[in-house]
Amino acid sequence: MAEATGIPAHIAVIMDGNGRWAQKRGLSRSEGHRAGTRTAKALVTRCRELGVRHLTLYTFSRENWSRPKDEVGLIFDLLVEYLRGELQSLLDQDIRLTVLGELADLPFVARQVLSMVMEKTAGCRSMTLNLALNYSGREEILRACRGLAEKGLRGAEITEAAFVQELYTAGQPDPDLIIRTSGELRLSNYLLFQAAYAEFYFTETLWPDFDAAELERALADYQSRQRRFGKTGEQVLPG
Ligand code: IPE
Ligand code: IPE
Ligand code: MG
Repeated sequence: MAEATGIPAHIAVIMDGNGRWAQKRGLSRSEGHRAGTRTAKALVTRCRELGVRHLTLYTFSRENWSRPKDEVGLIFDLLVEYLRGELQSLLDQDIRLTVLGELADLPFVARQVLSMVMEKTAGCRSMTLNLALNYSGREEILRACRGLAEKGLRGAEITEAAFVQELYTAGQPDPDLIIRTSGELRLSNYLLFQAAYAEFYFTETLWPDFDAAELERALADYQSRQRRFGKTGEQVLPG
C-alpha cells in the first residue's frame, strides 16, 4: 500500500537494456552490465533517502542461464564486486540485503559473499534490498506449493495467508510499483503472484540511463494514479 507520503512502500525494478545501451556506444555487453551496476547502486541510495521500505531488483532470472557462459560469469563477477564494495555502505545506510531465488545453484563465491552480506546486514531496518537472483516467478509459486505440502496442509487449510508465507517475499508487502526499462512491455516471469495489484511503469530509457530524474518521473506517474483494489472510484480516497 502506498504510504501517506505517496512514496511506494515497495518498488520492484526490471533492470533491462544493458546490452542495447552498450551496443549503441560500440561497447561490449560487459560494459553495459558494469554501467547498469552503477545505476543500481545509485538507485538503492536514492530509494533509501526517499523512504522506500522495500526495493527489489531483478538481477538475474532463471532463464538468464541460457546466455553465453562468459556473460553469465561476468554478471556474477560484478555482483561479487558490488557486494564486497557496498557492504559498509549498506550497513551505514541501515539496509538489509536478502535474495529472492534459489541460492544453492549460484556460483560458489557469489553464494559465499551473499551469505556474508545477508548475515551482516540482517539487523538493518531502514530498507530491505531484495536481489532477485536465479529467480523465476513460476518456480517460486511451485516451491510455495511444495512447502505447503511438506507441512501437511490440505484443502481449506491452504489459505492465501499460508501460501504467502512460503514465498521468497514472506513478511514483505507486495510491490506497489513495478518499473521496467528499455521499452519491453512484459513481466518476464517476475513476481507473478506478488504483482496482483501493482502499478506498472514502463519507460524506453535503457537501464544504465535510469537516473534520479527518471525515478522522479516514475514516482510522479505513480502518484497521479488512483489505485482501486476492486472498489469504485468514489470509495477510494485520493492521496
Ligand atoms: C538486463 O539487460 C540485465 C540482465 C538481464 C542481467 P540485458 O542484458 O537484458 O540487456 P538487453 O535487453 O540485451 O539490452
Ligand atoms: C529480465 O530481462 C531479467 C532481468 C532484468 C534480470 P531479460 O532481458 O532477461 O528479459 P527478456 O528475455 O527480454 O524477456
Ligand atoms: Mg534484456
